[in-house]
Amino acid sequence: MSDAPQTPYQILGEAGIRELVEVFYDIMDTLPEAADIRAMHAADLSPMKEKLAEYLIGWMGGPPIYAQKYGGVCMTEPHEPYHIGPEERDQWLLCMHRALERTGTSEELQEMLRIPLFRVADAVRNKEGPSSARSDPNIIAAN
Ligand code: HEM
Repeated sequence: MSDAPQTPYQILGEAGIRELVEVFYDIMDTLPEAADIRAMHAADLSPMKEKLAEYLIGWMGGPPIYAQKYGGVCMTEPHEPYHIGPEERDQWLLCMHRALERTGTSEELQEMLRIPLFRVADAVRNKEGPSSARSDPNIIAAN
């Protein structure tokens, strides 16, 4: 047996990543703390389950299915229409960490993913603060 470090893809496998994403969106769909980000998504989460699974398969070291299908992995543009500040980022991360726990991911892998997940979620963030500031004309006028 080789001691070479395994990628998350090698540890979870494609089926494991698909299950993780399934559970991730089920949590987003039901967790009161994630209601703000759930409301940004379409009623039917099935297309997103497919897309995020394809994305994470590549991101975790597997075949770049998402990049091949959609031409890139930059997540800035697809998220531009949404207000994603620290609170929305943290709601997304909460769902992901709960999903990792619920699917029985080892603590070692959860630890290995903690910082990379924070970085990728923070890279999607496009606002500094809470969304209540978004449509307040006084705040806009003051800036
Ligand atoms: C940080 C908080 C995040 C929020 C609030 C958020 C929210 C959203 C929303 C509202 C959509 C569109 C959904 C729809 O059309 O129904 C979307 C699309 C998507 N998100 Fe996120 N997202 C976040 C982070 C991430 C991260 C970290 C990743 C990747 C690791 C990701 C991957 C995707 C992908 C692959 C799509 C589909 C893009 C496409 O249309 O091809 N998201 N996201």
